[in-house]
This record gives sequence, structure tokens and C-alpha cells, in this order.
Amino acid sequence: MRLILFGPPGAGKGTQAKLLAKHHGLRHLSTGDMLRAAVRNESPVGKEAKGHMDAGELVPDDVVNRIVAETLAEIGYDDFILDGYPRTVDQAEFLVEALSDQDAPINAVVSLRVPEEHIVQRLSRRRTDRETGAIYHLDFNPPPADVTAERLLHRSDDEPEAIRTRLEEYHAKTQPLEAFFRAHVRFLDVDGLGSLDEVQARIDEALRGPGL
Ligand code: AP5
Repeated sequence: MRLILFGPPGAGKGTQAKLLAKHHGLRHLSTGDMLRAAVRNESPVGKEAKGHMDAGELVPDDVVNRIVAETLAEIGYDDFILDGYPRTVDQAEFLVEALSDQDAPINAVVSLRVPEEHIVQRLSRRRTDRETGAIYHLDFNPPPADVTAERLLHRSDDEPEAIRTRLEEYHAKTQPLEAFFRAHVRFLDVDGLGSLDEVQARIDEALRGPGL
């Protein structure tokens, strides 16, 4: 199965992608995680990406397309879930062409719908485990007692100014992709509000439809 998780910053894409990957045996491919690893390693890609990411801006298409193309060539072109990619119409066109060259079309786009007031609340209280990559929320999905405070990362782009820029970038460059997806791929609209389990159950239900 080849899936894309789509939605605004903080919609729960990373959280649900990890659950989907576990339950369906898929590779979780998050361009945000790949770029953060590049920044940590101070690689040329990381050096180019860092300023954009800290400000909440999108990283240039050619940089992100290259990382995704290399990853797909490495893992093969099946059994993956893309989280945070594509994010512009250029990226989507690049992906569709790369997959069609491999006769490996996307099976579905799962779109998580979450209103903006919830997004700010979710992002400002998010914490990520530096060791395992687990995603927590201090109120809605708190870390277990054995995960110490030092292990919990507050992402630099989860500050109010960067969140504002990320939402602007989303509305200007990513939201228009919905029309592209609807024209080319099976598009599954899922309500992203409710508990983690409720959202997961809705996604599983949507994926049970014919042809998947
Ligand atoms: P990226 O890491 O992809 O960030 P994002 O898309 O902004 O998404 P987030 O990771 O912030 O949120 P999410 O939807 O995964 O939500 P999460 O599950 O964490 O990208 C970061 C940056 O990298 C970009 O700004 C850009 O610079 C660059 N980049 C990445 N990809 C790129 C691309 N393709 N092109 C160009 N640039 C790119 O959940 C959020 C919080 O909510 C957590 O605390 C979680 O515990 C909580 N939560 C989750 N579900 C629920 C629920 N049901 N109820 C209550 N709380 C919940």
C-alpha cells in the first residue's frame, strides 16, 4: 500500500502515521524527520534547510524532492506512508511522475481535518522524545513517567511566530494541493478531532473502502 497523509501543521499526521505504519507494516517517511536529522548532522542539506525550518517556511522543492527520490529508490516503491510530503503542487507533480515511472501509483491520500484553534493548542504543548521520536502532548497524550523532562524536545518551530508562518505557508502553498489530489488520487477526508484512538479508527474505516 502507498499512502499520503495530508493536513495542516499539527493535525496529527506524525502521530497517526506512526500508528498506521505499525498496524499495516508500512515504512513511515516523514520529510520533517528527514530534514531535522540532516540539520542535526550538519549535512549540506541540513545547512540549507535549517533557516527555513526555524522560520516555519517550506524548504525549497528541489531539496525535498531529492531526499524523497533517494529514499524511495533505497526502500523500493511499495509499503510506505508519506507524512508531510508532497506539500506543493510542484512536489506532487514530481512524486506522481516518479511513481508512475515505477508503475507504483499512490493508493490514497488521507486528509486530516482539524480547525485552526486546535492546531495552535496542539503545537504549543507538543513534546517529542529525543531518544525514540515518540510524539506527546502535555495535556492530551502525556509522556509516561519514565520519560524524563531532559528527553523531551520542544521543537524550535513550535514557537508562536513560527507556527503563524507555518500556517500561512500551509494556506498559500499546501492547501491548493487538495484540488490536485482530488483530480488525480483517491482522497479520503477524515475528521482529525477526538482522541488518538478515535481518529485512528476513522482512518482505518476510510481505508477499508473498495480498491484498497
Ligand atoms: P513537519 O515536521 O512535517 O511539520 P508539520 O507538517 O508542520 O507537521 P507537524 O509535525 O508540526 O504536525 P503533525 O501533523 O505531524 O502533528 P503531530 O502528530 O506531531 O515539517 C517541519 C518543517 O520541515 C516544515 O515547516 C518545513 O520547513 C520542512 N518541511 C517538511 N516537509 C517539507 C516539504 N515536503 N516541503 C518543504 N518543506 C518541508 O501532532 C501535533 C500535536 O498534537 C502533538 O503534541 C500530538 O501529541 C497532538 N495530537 C495528535 N493527535 C491528537 C488528537 N487526536 N487529539 C489531541 N492532540 C493530538
